[in-house]
Amino acid sequence: MSKTLPSSIDETLSLLEKADYVAGRALATVLFLSLKMGRPLFLEGEAGVGKTEIAKVLAEQLDRPLIRLQCYEGLDVSSAVYEWNYAAQMVDIRMREASGETNRDAMEDDVFSRRFLISRPILQALEQVDGRAPVLLIDELDRTDEAFEAFLLEVLSDFQVTVPELGTIRAQEPPIVIITTNRTREIHDALKRRCLYHWVDYPSAEQELDIVRRKQPGASETLSRQVVDYVQALRRKELFKNPGIAETLDWATALLELDKIALDPQAVSDTLGVLLKYQDDIAQIQGSEGAEILRQVASEARSEGALAGAGSPKA
Ligand SMILES: Nc1ncnc2c1ncn2[C@@H]1O[C@H](COP(=O)(O)OP(=O)(O)O)[C@@H](O)[C@H]1O
Ligand SMILES: [Mg+2]
Repeated sequence: MSKTLPSSIDETLSLLEKADYVAGRALATVLFLSLKMGRPLFLEGEAGVGKTEIAKVLAEQLDRPLIRLQCYEGLDVSSAVYEWNYAAQMVDIRMREASGETNRDAMEDDVFSRRFLISRPILQALEQVDGRAPVLLIDELDRTDEAFEAFLLEVLSDFQVTVPELGTIRAQEPPIVIITTNRTREIHDALKRRCLYHWVDYPSAEQELDIVRRKQPGASETLSRQVVDYVQALRRKELFKNPGIAETLDWATALLELDKIALDPQAVSDTLGVLLKYQDDIAQIQGSEGAEILRQVASEARSEGALAGAGSPKA
């Protein structure tokens, strides 16, 4: 048996927290409502802000299978929904011919039966495994084309798929659907209308520090704070590609591997490729802008350290 759905916003928040997913109340609310109302959740935001992770966390916490449809340009029904197993069909026909079977209608019926159908993610999500409606993650929908969107709209309206040779396959219990987009193009209104919408933003400094503490507990408090403050400052610059949360975590890990307990100019310069993935961005930050950020981050840490020191009783 899969676990029951959260019955309140607070329960949704604690479900996310249990999986070390740091979320604000707005996200927990829309997630709670989408589960409660049985509506797909449409998550839009920059790369690396935690959209895909929500589906993973949800599947894990609700003890449901996660079925992921990774979208890409040219994704079609045979990769997303189902495909006939031609090779197996051919073998079956040959064997029947060899054994002298001549009834063409019977042969055709059999060759187009369920056992020759290969189900791809969408069909898998409708034909639930062991009675547990899965979490269906339709990831990076903006990479597909409008034809696929239109098809998806149909699936999401009635949670069924029609295979012409076989008939209609309908979900007994609709899957929990999470759709993500990195907004490289607009998704059609008709599809959005089926869903509840949430814009996933970069976390606040406080939230991001919480994430680093949870996911990289080995990093010193000073290093964690400085890493977060530095990344937050970078996101205020006009970079070609801002670092996401994954980059923050990778950076903290990299610095930890180098035995750093605080940022210094050399460490930053040596590891910038963990954080920024475009040479123009790296060049921009390696100059005076990066030095200025580091100076600020280090002086904040010092004043916080002084404050913390002032508050603690002297031995
Ligand atoms: N709110 C969060 N709380 C904890 N970890 C997070 C959060 N958001 C993102 N992460 C971490 O950052 C990584 C990247 O997030 P991901 O979901 O892949 O981003 P997106 O799908 O938006 O590009 C995840 O693997 C996860 O470890
Ligand atoms: Mg993603």
